[in-house]
Amino acid sequence: MAGIRYLADHRTWVLTGESSTYALRLDEDDVPAHVFWGPKLPPEDVAELSGKALPWWDGFNDPNEGLDELAADGGTKYWTPALQLRFADGTRALEWRYATHEIDRDHLTIHFTDRHYPLRVSLHYRWKSGVLERWTELSADTDVEVVRADSASWVLPVLDDYRLSHVTGRWAAETQLHRTPAAHGETTFASRRGITGHHANPWVMVDDGTATERHGEVYGVALAWSGSWRLTATRSSTGRLTVSGGFGQEGVAHRVGPGKPLTTPVIAGLYTEGGFGAASRAWHAYVREHVLPHPQELRPVLYNSWEATGFDVSEEQQRILAERAAALGVELFVMDDGWFGARTGDHAGLGDWHVNRHRFPDGLEPLVDAVHGLGMKFGIWVEPEMVNPDSDLYRAHPDWVLHHPHRRRSELRNQLVLNFARTDVAEWAHGWLDRLVGDHGVDFLKWDMNRPFSEAGWPGDADPDRLWVEHTRAVYALMDRLRADHPGLRLEACSGGGGRIDLGVLARADQVWTSDNTDALDRLRIQHGYGQLYPAGAMSAWVTDNPNFVTGRSVPLRFRFHVAMAGVLGVGGNIVGWPEDDLALARELIALAKDIRPVVQHGALYRLRPPVDDGVTALQYVHEDRAVVFAYRQAAHFNAPERPMRLEGLDPAERYLDLDAGTTHSGAVLLARGLALGLPTGDFASKVVRLERVPR
Ligand code: DGJ
Repeated sequence: MAGIRYLADHRTWVLTGESSTYALRLDEDDVPAHVFWGPKLPPEDVAELSGKALPWWDGFNDPNEGLDELAADGGTKYWTPALQLRFADGTRALEWRYATHEIDRDHLTIHFTDRHYPLRVSLHYRWKSGVLERWTELSADTDVEVVRADSASWVLPVLDDYRLSHVTGRWAAETQLHRTPAAHGETTFASRRGITGHHANPWVMVDDGTATERHGEVYGVALAWSGSWRLTATRSSTGRLTVSGGFGQEGVAHRVGPGKPLTTPVIAGLYTEGGFGAASRAWHAYVREHVLPHPQELRPVLYNSWEATGFDVSEEQQRILAERAAALGVELFVMDDGWFGARTGDHAGLGDWHVNRHRFPDGLEPLVDAVHGLGMKFGIWVEPEMVNPDSDLYRAHPDWVLHHPHRRRSELRNQLVLNFARTDVAEWAHGWLDRLVGDHGVDFLKWDMNRPFSEAGWPGDADPDRLWVEHTRAVYALMDRLRADHPGLRLEACSGGGGRIDLGVLARADQVWTSDNTDALDRLRIQHGYGQLYPAGAMSAWVTDNPNFVTGRSVPLRFRFHVAMAGVLGVGGNIVGWPEDDLALARELIALAKDIRPVVQHGALYRLRPPVDDGVTALQYVHEDRAVVFAYRQAAHFNAPERPMRLEGLDPAERYLDLDAGTTHSGAVLLARGLALGLPTGDFASKVVRLERVPR
């Protein structure tokens, strides 16, 4: 049972989660100080840990440094600052004074004020199953510059060593997993681009260097934010490591004052035992149970026209694709870029969100009706935050974009960023999106965002830097409003592939586009990194054509399907050109994907063998009575005999039927010795094994 207790004698709060304990106290100066994060402890025993601050070792070294729950700079605090303030008279830094606290079931709020200035700081802690969500609120009666406001600082216990797990990437190569020893000093992962970004993703996991996929303690921290962000791991000579994180970036301050509070996004923390596998499964459960808007649903098999047609779309051609897609068993047909304004390439038309009448002479209705008539849902691509300078919108409103006077307006992909922090711009976007969805019966929006911010100015506004936060908040508000007004609407978040994947957008998007790289081999690695934190049920994955347009590689169709159906299956190839054999195989594999998707989308993921070499990669999902094993061999060497694949997550006391082979296996044997996969011979061999628990 989760719960929160206040040990008044020790001025200590003990927060007990499903399988972990977190504790903090007020130190002698009222500073909120960390006490414990780790395995479950009896709350009353935590008092033992809640001693006084230790005296400084000498004039330079403070053994308590890095223990602050939100490391405010100032005085003799030299840790990586998580809270930096400048008051109107020039005074810097906060001096904490405890005010009061509230416990509302699983939610603790501790209120502080500054010792002199009329500024209030509230620290929030809220259990969501095994995950502790934290955030900070600031408010003030006079204007205060907030140079930095992290959501929280997380203090790790003193371990023998520290290792960081995180992902890096770039366009078409997102979420590449790294596990590296934590450097002494500060290691920062960040985006200064106004979007979550391809180059890093706002989470980090920490272990002592010995955790494996199946064993060991893992501490994880993830930020729910889709704009610029920063996570800093600080490792000091006192032997401590902290991770502090929040929105924003250096040199961009927030302002609070009368009527202008600041609430940071949630940063979530999770302690698990059982290795990286257990950590990922716990994160997936959290996202499914507490983040995703409709976790109980199964995501439909979609078709997306982008790789088939590029910008060259027409009603006739989309209708033909839709007919083909429906015949394959597709359930959601998505028309991508190129249907509006003068958008016949990436040079023009963004911002002019009216149907291109040359391409769709009678508007969108005939296509939408045809798609619905084929028994599919209809989805459409939009990129609301962007404008091409060559557009009627930009010609009418050149001031709507992020810009500074006397500075160039840097174009990327021939486009500029609209300033959604402006209420007139956000209202305009709501107007056309609401009409697009409402008037045409649109069931699904693919919401794209194809460039980072630059020259992020807002001439004439008294506090232009607020756009960095308010743009993202306006995007969230717009998504939330559309969803509320159109309850059947579902969303896919996309930013030039996987540039907008985070816990913030997943609270309002049903799925995310993982990468523009659809090469099945590269996808194994991208999906491996994605799945460290995010669940397969939100991971959009398409089967596209050979040779792959990013890598030039050709991969057998079966292999491509088997990789994509380990997430939310989509088809993105030019199916009009597929030979009958391929279409027949696609029909069969789409039926298979539908059969196994409750297990994939709602089940627990076990990474049996990661895609780190050219041997066999395997993963397994388990849900209720069923298990599905995916195995992929990219290259066969030396006619090596196949090794049994040890499974996980099964009941050793039960028997499992292989639904395709008709054989039954003891759960204990599958766990202890493994399953003979029977992969076909040769390169690019893949197999899906479906197991179901049967009476003994
Ligand atoms: C980038 C996306 O990642 C692609 O899937 C496609 O929608 C293009 N944008 C369209 O411009």
